[in-house]
Amino acid sequence: MALSHNLNLASQGTSLKALFSGYLIVVAVGYLMALVQIQLTHGLADGEYGLSVDDIVYSYYGNRSGSLLENKLHGSMKPMASDEERAQIITWIHQGATEETYESSGVKQIFEAKCIACHNADSGMPIPDYTNFQAIKDRALVDTGASFSSLARVSHIHLFGIAFIFMFVGLIFSLAAGVPKPLKVIAICTPYAFLLVDIASWWLTKLNPNFAWLVIVAGGSMALSFAFMWLVSMYEMWILPRRGVDDRDALLDE
Ligand code: HEC
Repeated sequence: MALSHNLNLASQGTSLKALFSGYLIVVAVGYLMALVQIQLTHGLADGEYGLSVDDIVYSYYGNRSGSLLENKLHGSMKPMASDEERAQIITWIHQGATEETYESSGVKQIFEAKCIACHNADSGMPIPDYTNFQAIKDRALVDTGASFSSLARVSHIHLFGIAFIFMFVGLIFSLAAGVPKPLKVIAICTPYAFLLVDIASWWLTKLNPNFAWLVIVAGGSMALSFAFMWLVSMYEMWILPRRGVDDRDALLDE
């Protein structure tokens, strides 16, 4: 390939290569830290180590199979009330678990008769005090995952921050000489396209858990294009023989 100009990575002066490399190394470490952080937050959402589709569903959509209160009434608290009483409590939960219906539907009497003997402030057991309605309410709510306000906050931080990182990674990579133009353009555009898909897939997963796989596809594609641009840039700067050398540094060396 004939190189008629000096605007390629291999031929840059050492100081510009050092600047580019320093930036690339620091953003790569930042990327690794982001992956560690994802493992430690979302990775544990399903109670097991490692990021899975379930983790993403629990994080964004929530665990809507039921509330803690309902699950306990089918589990360890099953013997505490009759089938009829438990059905009555569960109906109340499904109808929205409001304080008015708590009193009017007779659920309050069931709690007083069957639950408060243990679930009170003086029981000495580390269990919630059901003389306080809020303690019941908290356990009656279905887990609906990330709130819209937290999604909006994390979305705009990611869009601004990641677009900025890929601006410079892409700019450095755009000076690579050994990559065919179509591939170059695709590698530069991929992270931006998948950044939008990634953010959109969080919102879609919040609405429908089937979109969780899209979060993984988009995040993975972004990471792959980052790795590709990073490796090509580093290779052309430090391993590829220099051609049409830029002698800006050499003037100072002499
Ligand atoms: C004999 C005492 C006793 C009675 C009566 C009782 N509970 Fe419990 N409850 C416990 C204990 C002990 C735990 C903690 C162990 C567990 O979660 O199984 C608990 C835990 C719970 C939890 C989980 C709380 C949390 O935040 O971790 C819920 C929900 C619950 N009970 C609901 C009820 C309801 C509803 C009733 C009445 C129908 C009831 N319990 C009656 C002893 C009791």
